[in-house]
Amino acid sequence: MAHHAVSGRAEGRRVARKIIIDTDPGQDDALAILLALASGEALEVLGLTCVAGNVPLGLTTRNARRICELAGRRDVPVMAGCDRPMGRDLVTAEHVHGEDGLRGVDLPAPTMPLDSRHAVDFLIETLREAAPGTVTLVALAPLTNLATAFRRAPDIVARVADIVLMGGAHRALGNVTPVAEFNIHVDPQAADIVLCAGAPVTIVPLDVTHKALVTPARNAAFAALRTRVGQVAAALSRPTGRESARHGGLGAPLHDPCTIGWLLAPDLFAAREVNVMVETGSELTMGMTVMDWWGVTGRAANARVLHDIDADGFFDLLTAGLARL
Ligand code: BDR
Ligand code: CA
Repeated sequence: MAHHAVSGRAEGRRVARKIIIDTDPGQDDALAILLALASGEALEVLGLTCVAGNVPLGLTTRNARRICELAGRRDVPVMAGCDRPMGRDLVTAEHVHGEDGLRGVDLPAPTMPLDSRHAVDFLIETLREAAPGTVTLVALAPLTNLATAFRRAPDIVARVADIVLMGGAHRALGNVTPVAEFNIHVDPQAADIVLCAGAPVTIVPLDVTHKALVTPARNAAFAALRTRVGQVAAALSRPTGRESARHGGLGAPLHDPCTIGWLLAPDLFAAREVNVMVETGSELTMGMTVMDWWGVTGRAANARVLHDIDADGFFDLLTAGLARL
């Protein structure tokens, strides 16, 4: 497993890193997308590939376009992908994200059209057309689109620069079952395919995102931007009592934006290369990520796992990004 440099340089000039965001917006997905779109000098968003997850596909594609329009970025292609996991029924998370996936936030229906390409075709074509090692996949959702693309076109695996995915857990165990994190639990078969494919993988697990808590002060900092984006970010990330209670009353985790935080400011994180396997057989532990932290199995490392974050630094970065939109 070889990881490419986190930021690109050409002839001494910094070049924007090309990313595709695979997503199921989702209130935290929305903030991740906004941060990426606000970071044009560092990140070039080639497209948003949507998948069923937090809410069904019809809503994730709708929400992705609402967020692009909020950011004034109707030029970013938004594609619909897989509408269900590879081998299981879809499990959704309206209890976290609301019936519409964006907590009923006051955003108009999108007017930009969906791109006519299927998300899986877009992934395959984009990776084949780009120079090898120049496109990073940022996965914020069940990994169905990525795994389907790898199955259909194995040649693209070697062309991926990195897969930066929010999912799984080590010591934090689970958030949707006692031992499984939502994105991995919803489509464990897809996660297994992606982790075993051989592409470089960077995992942002619950161990990190549970340290990235939206406290009342951090939420107020979004609102204090006094912009439309700031108001929406505050509404999307306002901690609910239920989530906050799980974290000592301090606030609710902001999962998906940590992936973009890593791409923009890797110094805010600590990481370790380990072997990670996914449970795909047992209903009791379905989607558990088994991380060989101490190398006891002898299995080769297949992922870089982030395990710590400078949360204040991360929220400063996020707030400053939102302020640019
Ligand atoms: C993940 O699950 C989803 O509900 C969030 O959007 C995030 O991607 C956290 O477990
Ligand atoms: Ca998500």
